[in-house]
Amino acid sequence: MVHRFIALSLALACAATAQAADKTAAAKIDPAKGQQVAAQICAACHNPDGNSSVSANPKLAGQHADYLYKQLKNFKADGGKPAERNSAVMAGMVAALTDQDMKNVAAFYVSQTQKGEQAKTQAIEAAQKLYRAGDASRGLPACAGCHGPAGAGIPAQYPRIGGQFAEYTEAQLKAFREGSRANDPNRMMRAVAARMSDAEIKAVSDYIAGLR
Ligand code: HEC
Ligand code: HEC
Repeated sequence: MVHRFIALSLALACAATAQAADKTAAAKIDPAKGQQVAAQICAACHNPDGNSSVSANPKLAGQHADYLYKQLKNFKADGGKPAERNSAVMAGMVAALTDQDMKNVAAFYVSQTQKGEQAKTQAIEAAQKLYRAGDASRGLPACAGCHGPAGAGIPAQYPRIGGQFAEYTEAQLKAFREGSRANDPNRMMRAVAARMSDAEIKAVSDYIAGLR
């Protein structure tokens, strides 16, 4: 009798473990499923591999998955709260995505190789200095300190910015400066952009486009 009871308990315990394992498998991040979402919804603006061809649409190829996932979450108005990052276009795109879709599509884009832009001007010395060293006299930290010397970023928090369209980078820096983009943890980017002139923003954005 006791033996039978133990056997039954064991069988039930095994069944429960198998079910839990099933659930974990279902929640596993799947870049192949992410590619399907990318092809069906995102490719129209970000191209099939995330190397967008229009500068208003940022390149996503090679961007860190955690950063991409955070942005997708930030574009979505959740639980009655307004979206943390405003974009009428992207709000529409993420509305139908589940949390799992966002993780999958982020995993797909990080697996792609970025095709970087080129800097348009050669007069990059001042921009390079600002990028690499900042300007201590104004309390402006070096971009490289957080985004890396080659703009590759540092997972999980600091995005890749090297090779991105200058127009997109410029627009983001101005949005951080105005506060219309305010999803940066601890106001990190708003504090940086507040110390930059229009001319510096333009020059650094162009320098970053050519950065590898
Ligand atoms: C109709 C065009 C369009 C489509 C389709 C589109 N996007 Fe975007 N996406 C944009 C634009 C425009 C921006 C820039 C928003 C801004 O200026 O803040 C953007 C920004 C983003 C960003 C932020 C990138 C960064 O560097 O911060 C991510 C991530 C993103 N899109 C992912 C996606 C995904 C995933 C899909 C498909 C589910 C998608 N997009 C579909 C136009 C589009
Ligand atoms: C103290 C760290 C820090 C420094 C210094 C810093 N950044 Fe950032 N930057 C961040 C973080 C964190 C984010 C991501 C914000 C978010 O989660 O949306 C970011 C985001 C950005 C973005 C948006 C990228 C995208 O794909 O939308 C740009 C552009 C950018 N930074 C440029 C710069 C430039 C140029 C400098 C130097 C003038 C700089 N950053 C200095 C931390 C920093």
